[in-house]
Amino acid sequence: MVLDTVQVKSHSHAHPSFHILGQEIVVDLPIPALVLAFLGAGVAFRYLISFLRLILELTIIPGTNIKSYKSKTGSYALVTGCTSGIGLEFAKQFAGKGYNLILLGRRQTALDDLVKEISGKYKVDCKTVMVDLGDASSRAKGFAQVEKLAQELDVAVLVNNAGVSHEVCVIFNETPHEEIDAIVQTNILGTLHLTRTVLPYLVARSKKGSKSLILNVGSLDGRIPAALLAAYSCTKGGLQTWTKALAWELRGTGVQALMVQPAFVISNMSKIRRASLTVPTAKAWVKSCLSSIGSAGGAQGRAYEMTPYWSHAIMDYAAGFFGYPSEMIGMWVVDYMHKDIRKRWLRKKARESKKSE
Ligand SMILES: NC(=O)c1ccc[n+]([C@@H]2O[C@H](COP(=O)([O-])OP(=O)(O)OC[C@H]3O[C@@H](n4cnc5c(N)ncnc54)[C@H](OP(=O)(O)O)[C@@H]3O)[C@@H](O)[C@H]2O)c1
Repeated sequence: MVLDTVQVKSHSHAHPSFHILGQEIVVDLPIPALVLAFLGAGVAFRYLISFLRLILELTIIPGTNIKSYKSKTGSYALVTGCTSGIGLEFAKQFAGKGYNLILLGRRQTALDDLVKEISGKYKVDCKTVMVDLGDASSRAKGFAQVEKLAQELDVAVLVNNAGVSHEVCVIFNETPHEEIDAIVQTNILGTLHLTRTVLPYLVARSKKGSKSLILNVGSLDGRIPAALLAAYSCTKGGLQTWTKALAWELRGTGVQALMVQPAFVISNMSKIRRASLTVPTAKAWVKSCLSSIGSAGGAQGRAYEMTPYWSHAIMDYAAGFFGYPSEMIGMWVVDYMHKDIRKRWLRKKARESKKSE
């Protein structure tokens, strides 16, 4: 199309016409309708592009190579909450990629068993630090050990994975104070203070030319406000905002901070034992996470966040699709699910107490 031969003039007051290569094309629409049609086409185009990006990121576009954070001298990944579930898989898969490990957990025997298993299978060096992240004095002692290790070793990756939730879905008005404490202490204070301890060493190594990575494991219960898990939802939402502020501060330092969002994954926390389309194993979820570092997946349009597992990505994407209405639908779905979980839990408790009578 030759642009300088295109003229727009008003054919009548209401119907514009175009001249293209000497041909007059009259648009049989009043100007306001034409403007609306253009706007509509623009919005549809934007959604089409974003949907295509989602599909491509979940299928063929690879993330940053996870090995690219390692230096040649033998780098370490520090993983919290590595004694079960998602953290255990992070530990194994980082070892599988050749990283040495600093394993942080609150049960020394479980940590020792893990060291035997991982160092035997992957031939990497494993250090352990026993810390109860929910306890301030344990944190002080344990983080002093972490700092000493960070001074001596090349820590390239920090995975803030450890977390606790409510024993069962419960409205905030009935949530025990001790439970609120444990959730906030572990999920927020444990994560923030550990990061504050390790961060100077990540920045220092990155100044020498090696990239470093902080992965904060969030939850879609933080991204979509979760009724009946309000305190947990608050901590994950808080971590989401903190991660973004941190990532912004770290621009240009070579340290990348990312919030990774799972929905349900098989683990002790979810109490789900069977995998399905929407509930992957921890192994599958961590694999999808490590292969898509830096791709937003379902967290499109949100800085420094990723929702890597395909079905979780679709849920996350849908929850943001129409702004307010989709957020309200998301909250309604979560509320429905959590009420159902609580009902089933109460029925189970009633059965158990009947049996014990
Ligand atoms: N599974 C899901 O459906 C799901 C969904 C969204 C987000 N997440 C997030 O994923 C992360 C991992 O959870 P998961 O599903 O793998 O659950 P998990 O199997 O219960 O693992 C939680 C890990 O955190 C550790 N931990 C808990 N409290 C701790 C404390 N006070 N001090 C030190 N370590 C502590 C646990 O240690 P112990 O072995 O000693 O208990 C365990 O290793 C959590 O941040 C969770 O919020 C999970």
